[in-house]
Amino acid sequence: MIESGIKSISQMNMIKDINDELKDTYDQLEKAYMESIQTLRYTVEAKDAYTRGHSDRVSEYSVLIGRKLGLQDSDIRLLQIGGLFHDIGKIGVPDSILLKEARLTDDEYSQIKNHPSIGAHILSNATIFADIIPIVKHHHEKYDGTGYPGRLKGEDIPYLARIAAIADTFDAMTSVRPYRKALPLDVVKEEFRKYSGTQFDPNIAKVFLEILETDYDKIEEIQEKYPS
Ligand SMILES: [Fe+2]
Repeated sequence: MIESGIKSISQMNMIKDINDELKDTYDQLEKAYMESIQTLRYTVEAKDAYTRGHSDRVSEYSVLIGRKLGLQDSDIRLLQIGGLFHDIGKIGVPDSILLKEARLTDDEYSQIKNHPSIGAHILSNATIFADIIPIVKHHHEKYDGTGYPGRLKGEDIPYLARIAAIADTFDAMTSVRPYRKALPLDVVKEEFRKYSGTQFDPNIAKVFLEILETDYDKIEEIQEKYPS
């Protein structure tokens, strides 16, 4: 019978009510998510001015690379948020070590190397951050398996973490610290060519070198927005 396939007005109203309720719930979740992000942001900002600027730049460089690679919006969002919080574990490392300008002892260096695992642990209790944990935990892995904390190799390293690693290293080379100047751009490019396939994923490094060649204005925009 034709009538059986047609929903009555009261059924349609009920569906509309359910949809409205779902939308309200989704909006509330989204709001809670953004508030959690803001809270974590304040945590990172409380650490020191350098960490703040560094995190913002790594976030934006990661997004730039992700877009050039044609990643979908959901991955771009993970790169953006993962970049902001990639070093959040540094709140678990004493400033006397983090800010030390003299050469680090082996013990001090191993404490610094704990920050990706500390960061992953900080985020581990919140389901909403589950998808950025791979970035936080593995942004210091190297393509040849000599990085930390997992000594993961090649494609075993989460893809988004391989992108963040390049953004992070680029920022370390190009930002100004009290004890060192930024490296000149030609030296930076040479480093990326030299360590492509050992430290860096060769395909992502190639795309990043293309960005440095053809989209350098976008890099400069980020550096002007978040100066070091
Ligand atoms: Fe880091």
